[in-house]
Amino acid sequence: MDDTQIWDLIQQEEDRQASGLEMIPSENHSSVAVRRASGSILTDKYSEGYPGMRYYAGCQIVDKVENLARDRAKQLFGVTHANVQPHSGSPANQAIYFALVDPGDTVMGMSLYFGGHMTHGLKVNFSGTYYKSVQYTTDKHGYMDYEAIAAMAAKEKPRLIMAGTTAYPRIIDWQKLREIADSVGAWLAADISHISGLVVAGVHPSPIGIVDVTMTTTHKTLRGPRGAMILCNGDPSDPLKKPERTKENLPSLIDRAIIPGLQGGPHNHQTAAIAVALDEALQPSFKEYGKQIAINAKKLSEELLSRGFELVTGGTDNHLMVIDLTNKGLSGKQGETALSKAGITVNKNTVPFDPRSPFDPSGIRLGTPALTTRGMKEAEMVQVADWIADAVAHHKDDKHLATLHEEITKFAKKFPLPR
Ligand SMILES: Cc1ncc(COP(=O)(O)O)c(C=O)c1O
Repeated sequence: MDDTQIWDLIQQEEDRQASGLEMIPSENHSSVAVRRASGSILTDKYSEGYPGMRYYAGCQIVDKVENLARDRAKQLFGVTHANVQPHSGSPANQAIYFALVDPGDTVMGMSLYFGGHMTHGLKVNFSGTYYKSVQYTTDKHGYMDYEAIAAMAAKEKPRLIMAGTTAYPRIIDWQKLREIADSVGAWLAADISHISGLVVAGVHPSPIGIVDVTMTTTHKTLRGPRGAMILCNGDPSDPLKKPERTKENLPSLIDRAIIPGLQGGPHNHQTAAIAVALDEALQPSFKEYGKQIAINAKKLSEELLSRGFELVTGGTDNHLMVIDLTNKGLSGKQGETALSKAGITVNKNTVPFDPRSPFDPSGIRLGTPALTTRGMKEAEMVQVADWIADAVAHHKDDKHLATLHEEITKFAKKFPLPR
C-alpha cells in the first residue's frame, strides 16, 4: 500500500516541475530508468566494503552492480580508478581531504561568495574548521585570477588546492592550476560537479591527467541520481595496509577514506542508478545533449544582455550564468521570489564583491541543463528570456506574475519531463 500522504506530495512535486521551468543550474531531470534503479530493492542490501571484499554476505549481485558502475565511470572519464560510493558531493570532498591532508594543514579553495562551494574551505564548513583554509576570489569582473591564486599559494603554501566551482560561468584552466600546485608541492583536486556532463561532451576541458583527484556529483549536468564519484589514476595497493601519501597510492587512499574513513554501507540503489546514468552518458546522444546545454546557455545569455541585464563576466561558456539585478532595481531574493511566482525556478546568488548580504544578495544564478533535457533549443531560449525580463519588470505585481505563470505552464507542458 502506498503512503497516500507522501505519494500525494510526490505527485504535487512532479506537477510543480512539469508545469514550470527548472533553471537552478545544479538541477536536472533524470531518466525513468535512473529513477527506477534508484527506487529499487537494492536499497535493502548492506554491503560495507568493496566488490570482492565485503563485510557482509549475500553481496554477489551488488558486487556486479558496483563493478559495472566503476567500469562505466572509468571508461567515460578515462581513469584507472573510480570510487562510486560517496553518498553525495560534500562527503566525497570530505573524503578527499581525509585522504590527502591532516587536520590543521593549510588548504586552498575558491570562496563561496565568488563561485566556490562551501566544502572548498568556507569557515563554517568542516573544510574551514578542521583545516586552515585560505580562500581566493575572482577579479572584479568575476574571472578567476590565476596570478592572484599563484601569489596566494606562494604565500600560504597549501598542501591541497581544491579547485572547482558552483557559480562560475567560464572555463577553468586546469593546467594553470597544476603549475600553481606544483610550484608549492600541493595536491590538486578538481571538483567538476557542475560541469561533468560538459566535460563528457567536450564542451569544457577535462581535468583528468592534469589534476591528482577529480570529484563529481552525479545529479547535475551528468543527469544521474543524487550521488558522487571520485576518479583518479594509480595502482590500488593492499587494501588492508595503510598507504603512504603518494600519487601511485591514490586509489587506495581514496577508497580507505570512504570506508572505513567516513562511510558505512554504500547505497546500492544509488550505485545502480549511477551505473544507468553513466551508460546513458556513454551514448553519442549525450555528447549532443551536453553541447546543446552550452548552446542554450549562450543564446539565453545573449538574449538577456540585449534586454539590459548585467551578467557576471558578461556572459557564459558553460551551462550557467549569474545575473546582477542591481541595475533592475531589485535584489537577488526579490528576483528569485518574483520568478518563482511566474513558474521559473532560479536561486539567489552573490555577485563578485557583493555589497549585499549572502541571505539577500545582488544576483541570481540560472542555467539550462534541465530545460535542455526537456528538448528546448535556441528558439525557446528567446521566449524564456522574454519571460524573465517580464517577471523582473513586474516583480511587485502578483497578478501579472500569476498570469505569466499560466502562460509558462502551457508552454512547459509541451516539453514533458522524461517518462
Ligand atoms: C562544486 C560542488 N561541489 C560539491 C557540491 C556538494 O554536493 P552535494 O550537495 O551533493 O553534497 C556541490 C553542490 O551543489 C557543488 O556545486
